[in-house]
Amino acid sequence: MSSTFAVTVRPATSMRGRVRPPGDKSISHRYALLAAIAEGPSMIHGYSTGADCGSTLHCLRALGVPIEQLKRERATGIQLEILGVQMRGFERPSAMLDAGNSGSTIRMLSGILAAHPFATAVTGDSSLRRRPMRRIILPLERMGARIASDEGRPPLTITGTTDLEGIDFTPEVASAQVKSAVLFAGLHASGITRVVEPMSTRDHTERALEAFGAQVLRGGTAVAIRGGQRLIGGTFHVPGDISSAAFWMVAAAAMRGSDVTVEHVGLNPTRTGIIDVLQRMGAHIKTTIAHAQAGEPIGTIHVRHAGLRDTTIEPAEVPGVIDELPVLAALATHGGELRVSGAQELRVKESDRISALAEGLRLMGGEIDEQPDGFHVRGRNRLRGGEVDAKNDHRLAMAFAIAALGATGPTVIHDAGAAGVSYPEFFTVLESLRV
Ligand code: S3P
Repeated sequence: MSSTFAVTVRPATSMRGRVRPPGDKSISHRYALLAAIAEGPSMIHGYSTGADCGSTLHCLRALGVPIEQLKRERATGIQLEILGVQMRGFERPSAMLDAGNSGSTIRMLSGILAAHPFATAVTGDSSLRRRPMRRIILPLERMGARIASDEGRPPLTITGTTDLEGIDFTPEVASAQVKSAVLFAGLHASGITRVVEPMSTRDHTERALEAFGAQVLRGGTAVAIRGGQRLIGGTFHVPGDISSAAFWMVAAAAMRGSDVTVEHVGLNPTRTGIIDVLQRMGAHIKTTIAHAQAGEPIGTIHVRHAGLRDTTIEPAEVPGVIDELPVLAALATHGGELRVSGAQELRVKESDRISALAEGLRLMGGEIDEQPDGFHVRGRNRLRGGEVDAKNDHRLAMAFAIAALGATGPTVIHDAGAAGVSYPEFFTVLESLRV
């Protein structure tokens, strides 16, 4: 998608109102991928409006999966019907697949392509073509697939096999995308496939597999799946994305007089680390779980400002807030201090998020020190605003906007359209909440 336009964000005094975030990006990808290889039709409600989840649909269609978009509404997202082609039912694509900006698409889809006995080439935009893929290439090759790459980066050409073998795998990095790719391949493999993570990561894949009728064995940081199980299509409702809601939670925590309620948001405990960090920094937060759908808790988060205190995010906490670290850095520019370590993975996200954050926040007048695996932000003085570049990174575009709300002057965010990768409605919602 084209994301080159600039947005000017003016300072605000506070943020007030109710908001329903877009469908969870992680869960949307998983439901689409599993519905594609399930038996029978699936109806998916609340599918993410972000471009990344569109990339997954685009690739699945190119692989012969019938997908119909039945509705698209700002409040409730996209409603899709996907006709499952069953396991190993993809058609050989006629051209290279384009995963756009989406690491989740290329990595998780590769796990399924590993079980299809033909060569599929998958590429992406300039950001995705810089991202590391050895983390999935190594385990999928151990299982029997062959994967050619550009020195461990996309484009990937995955030549799958109907003879995948289950493995015991211990990834070097804690990554839910890697875990998912291996489990998806394991679903098609002989025997048991087991992933033992260095630290637990988001478990949407495990919950989604169970919702589609597969059995998953779990204990500590280990998860295992027996190959050859059937997946059955059904009706699924995607909860709102807490990583998108995080921008409004942080804005409310940051600014005096703020009071924001986030509705219909996913409250899976592997994703709610942001709530703990905001509470440590002083915010008043009330969370209510209303119900669960397909094993995913959904509810409401109410956030009120109450001053900002210093805090530290230790390495063990990082997987639970990995996508929220840019906006937490923005929070600390409003006051308090934030230290983060053990977050070297940020350097291989949609941009090098440590250096791009440091560069952008400094241009706005912020005090931020960069370390190889983290950063330290001191919010002693108000930002002045200025001109920053989101570097083709959706979370940076939105994090800079939240920092800009507390500045003394306006901030021009170049490449602000990158927000559309996960939250196309972001700048409209921002204007509706500001006071
Ligand atoms: C995701 C996992 C995380 C996260 C990404 C989405 C997922 O990436 O940063 O935005 O849906 O599994 P890693 O698995 O690479 O840490």
